Amino acid sequence: MRSILVVNPKGGCGKTTIATNLATYYSVWGMSTALVDLDPQQSSMDWLRVRPKDENPIQGFNALKGKIYLDADTERVIYDCPARTDSKKVAKLIDLVDVVIIPVMPSSIDMRVAAKFIADIVGKVKASNSKVIMGVVANRTQKNYHSHAALVTFLKALDVPFVGALRNSENYVKAADSGVGIFEVSLSEAKQDMKEWEPILHWVEGKRVL
Ligand SMILES: Nc1ncnc2c1ncn2[C@@H]1O[C@H](COP(=O)(O)OP(=O)(O)OP(=O)(O)O)[C@@H](O)[C@H]1O
Ligand SMILES: [Mg+2]
Repeated sequence: MRSILVVNPKGGCGKTTIATNLATYYSVWGMSTALVDLDPQQSSMDWLRVRPKDENPIQGFNALKGKIYLDADTERVIYDCPARTDSKKVAKLIDLVDVVIIPVMPSSIDMRVAAKFIADIVGKVKASNSKVIMGVVANRTQKNYHSHAALVTFLKALDVPFVGALRNSENYVKAADSGVGIFEVSLSEAKQDMKEWEPILHWVEGKRVL
């Protein structure tokens, strides 16, 4: 089993979008996948509720309802954290996970929050779980914008690897509307978005940053 925590105290940076799309990726590949929602807002569970019954299965858990019992054959678990999750909360969860993904949006407000959060958690995470890998993903970027270049420069200077960038794409919004992910829409529509996930998925699976 491999477990992935998607976290950033900044609201709206794409935690649920990344968590749900990651879950669909694994389920598309036939892996037994669980999505654990730690957020009182329950956006991941809302998404799962509208997911068509004939789509690839994803087991959903509302973590606020008590202890979670994962099936023994569960291969991938994705934890979707709420905004304002701080380093103390991360420290409590860290023993459960192998991978920490921190989505960051291209704005100085978001970058400052991310910088403080990362500075706060890096030491704590390494001290309590030395096997965990942590990485940042740029989200909602527009390559031709000044903000993209600024974000990339910022992310490359951090103590954690910059593992990939996802563009601002309506495909995420459209897919989420019907409880699916971009890996479940037609290739012609979402080819570029799928391609952008390649280095991220490669790294999540424990391989070297591309
Ligand atoms: N790459 C993207 N392209 C287009 N829209 C996106 C992208 N990523 C996220 N969004 C949209 O941005 C909004 C916020 O995303 P999301 O809910 O995933 O953030 P979050 O970090 O989970 O928010 P919260 O902190 O409230 O839990 C949503 O409407 C989502 O559809
Ligand atoms: Mg969310």
